Amino acid sequence: MIRLSEIERIFPVGGETVHALSDVNFTVSKGEYVAIMGPSGSGKSTLLNIIGLLDRPDKGVYSLEGLDTTELTDDQQASVRRNKIGFVFQFFHLIPRLSAAENVELPMILAGTDPAERKSRVLEALSSYGLSERMKHRPDQLSGGQRQRVAIARATIMRPDIVLADEPTGNLDRSSGTEVIQILENLNDNGITLMMVTHDPDLGKRASRRVRLVDGRISADTGSP
Ligand SMILES: Nc1ncnc2c1ncn2[C@@H]1O[C@H](COP(=O)(O)OP(=O)(O)OP(=O)(O)O)[C@@H](O)[C@H]1O
Ligand SMILES: [Mg+2]
Repeated sequence: MIRLSEIERIFPVGGETVHALSDVNFTVSKGEYVAIMGPSGSGKSTLLNIIGLLDRPDKGVYSLEGLDTTELTDDQQASVRRNKIGFVFQFFHLIPRLSAAENVELPMILAGTDPAERKSRVLEALSSYGLSERMKHRPDQLSGGQRQRVAIARATIMRPDIVLADEPTGNLDRSSGTEVIQILENLNDNGITLMMVTHDPDLGKRASRRVRLVDGRISADTGSP
């Protein structure tokens, strides 16, 4: 469903250029669980941002379910992203002034879902993650683990096919981290394609496939079907 061919991403910095990704070729099938690993600066976030349609490659083709995303306008990309992709970040990226419930509701407002359905889906999502007592709390009134569970509820409220997580436990203690991983793996058990950037070899081992980046190139791809 995800097919990257000859992807390059180049950032101009001062007079130089940084090759964040070079000649990346890679496909992911529906329902896979892929860990993206590699040293700091190797291009992991850049790769995830491209797959998540938050960024565009400078060269190459990224096709998603047969659709060449590089041909789409920004608005078209935003619509694909809203409907098919959920993103989870290390630093949560919740909107500080909105409550947990409002953060989770936001993607449905953007998608034009009707208000009654919005309310019931928010309630269902937050209670399934053990947050029904925290609906009205703002992010700064929640623990790290709770914030990440709100972020996952927001990322999945549109029932995406793909969840992309960039070091989702990087800012959590061990037990909250484990909870978050279990939620993500549970989504994958229910058929969602899961791609997760991690520095933690133990987390990497839990995935069915590990892709290693070094200097913007894929240096190893193990466990691929
Ligand atoms: N917006 C940008 N402008 C300039 N250079 C960038 C930009 N984003 C990333 N880079 C460079 O591209 C390379 C890859 O960055 P990226 O953030 O993808 O690495 P990473 O593997 O996610 O690292 P980390 O493990 O530290 O998060 C790095 O050398 C980085 O400095
Ligand atoms: Mg990164």
